[in-house]
Amino acid sequence: MTWTKKDILDIESLSRDEITMLLETASGLKEISERSIKKVPTLRGKTIVLFFMEPSTRTRISFDIAAKRLSADSISISASTSSIVKGETLIDTARNIEAMRPDILVIRHSSAGAPHLIAKHLSVSVVNAGDGMHAHPTQALLDMLSVREVKKEISGLNVAIVGDIAHSRVARSNIIGFSRMGAHVTIAGPPTMIPAGIEALGTTVAASVDAAIENADVIMMLRIQKERQKRFLMPSEREYAVRYGLNKSRLACIRPDALIMHPGPINRGVEIAPEAADGPNSIILEQVTNGVALRMAVFYLLAGGVRNADSD
Ligand code: CP
Repeated sequence: MTWTKKDILDIESLSRDEITMLLETASGLKEISERSIKKVPTLRGKTIVLFFMEPSTRTRISFDIAAKRLSADSISISASTSSIVKGETLIDTARNIEAMRPDILVIRHSSAGAPHLIAKHLSVSVVNAGDGMHAHPTQALLDMLSVREVKKEISGLNVAIVGDIAHSRVARSNIIGFSRMGAHVTIAGPPTMIPAGIEALGTTVAASVDAAIENADVIMMLRIQKERQKRFLMPSEREYAVRYGLNKSRLACIRPDALIMHPGPINRGVEIAPEAADGPNSIILEQVTNGVALRMAVFYLLAGGVRNADSD
């Protein structure tokens, strides 16, 4: 199979074969980050622009490290340091960036659909690094990579996603991604944070967090996206921790081999207790490690997927 897509904008537009290709490419590239000299010349001469119009730690740094590990030149800009603050439209800014001939444009934006709009107007490859409440495809891909690494197969696994589903682009992308790869996805959370009609994405809504996690192979906890809620949809964080958090008493009821995941940033003591975040079932930091390999695979495939003898 050869890679044909110009952009990576969401999970729904990726076939099962394309997802598998991304995961297998990432697995092959991962060892580069374990070397003493963590750099190969594969993308020498390529230019990657990271345009982040929303805060980010993990995604931004891992895209940047991924570019550097493959010897691409990466340039970071943010909303506050771009001419958008002077009234330039997003499309005009993007067209001006494209005029400088980058090969790949990575964009994070608070509005759903912004990366799709840019991809439609520009011929440069566009990667969605998170758009509003819509999609975070590279997060879902690195999550699938992390699960596959431990469980070997995604198909047939029970995946529980717990928390503020309504405001989470990570939840949407993971529901679609894990379902496409053959997993059974169950969600749970406060009724005020479960969107109507979410079952259409291929998930089941559990009656309680306990029901969702009791037989789960994978438990993915999500933070409350306060920045996207018009008002806090729970009386208090303390009540949330008791009713919906992966706390000590729930931790005692999970399967011994269940994987605990979180896309970050975590709110310790709210959706996840320190015993769960830092315990033996947690793969939260492996997710971050795998984010670099996965984003290397994204760049590698979008840039043509040619690994020369001198690149290894
Ligand atoms: N998971 C994730 O998107 O984290 P950041 O917001 O830190 O990039």
